[in-house]
Amino acid sequence: MLKGRSILEPMDMTTAELEEIFDLADAIIDDPEKYVHACDGKLLATLFYEPSTRTRFSFEAAMLRLGGKVIGFSEPNSSSVAKGESIADTIRTIACYADIAVMRHPKEGAPRIAANATDMPVINAGDGGHQHPTQTLTDLLTIRRRKGGFNNLTVGLCGDLKFGRTVHSLIKALSRYEGIKFVMISPEELRIPEYVRKGVLDANSIPYREVKKMQDVMSELDVLYMTRVQRERFFNEDDYIRLKDRYILDLDKLVSAKEDMMILHPLPRVNEIAVEVDSDSRALYFEQAKNGMFVRMSLIMKLLGIEVQ
Ligand code: CP
Repeated sequence: MLKGRSILEPMDMTTAELEEIFDLADAIIDDPEKYVHACDGKLLATLFYEPSTRTRFSFEAAMLRLGGKVIGFSEPNSSSVAKGESIADTIRTIACYADIAVMRHPKEGAPRIAANATDMPVINAGDGGHQHPTQTLTDLLTIRRRKGGFNNLTVGLCGDLKFGRTVHSLIKALSRYEGIKFVMISPEELRIPEYVRKGVLDANSIPYREVKKMQDVMSELDVLYMTRVQRERFFNEDDYIRLKDRYILDLDKLVSAKEDMMILHPLPRVNEIAVEVDSDSRALYFEQAKNGMFVRMSLIMKLLGIEVQ
């Protein structure tokens, strides 16, 4: 039962609960009219301490399309955060007004501090380089709608695997499925962090390889998950400039890819996927962004305990 719970990382949902969320998202996609009053009278608060386009707008669109309303900030200095108010006091105050809150924060663990300070459901919309569980819901729904499930997939993860929180969350979530294999494609400096390598991959005996060239593994992949080099997490601009264009997916590199390989990207993209790829039938990143709204509609309904017969 998801009602009343906070979602701070992908493992906060069992695989059975994920299926419930995806089943409802599929139902909403098939018949959105049926859900236009599902959240009448409910209020979502969006607390974004870091920039966002997809996550914030898709959560807000999700609540509005369910008949609910939205309050929040996308510029924390417009709130009493600028006067030094703590996360705990901010969320306790927001809970006086809203039914559910979504928080993005540059500090890892900030949404957990918020969730611990209130009984209102709090959703982590990305905390530093740590986790982004609702991006994972978006990614998984997109894969499930194309592949029918997650077993026996070979998933290539390419780019900034060190700071890319969407990658960390996706690996965690997929680690629970049978026959899953990963190929990590990154420069030495941007390899996955130890807590994912040891705590998730090794702990669950999940096969993975680390390579430097995407062309070497392209033909094996069922999913290629491209990521942006996370400029905002670098301490040194020279390192960012040196690494930022290391991987650029173009049509030439796709020649050996499977006909049904899925190209995903959480977006925003910078240079890592050439625009010419957008018209390839395997390029699914805008479909993925759209699915993000539907899966967040489903999640909001589940956390608020709302059912539509
Ligand atoms: N995928 C994602 O988190 O995008 P935004 O940063 O635009 O929300």
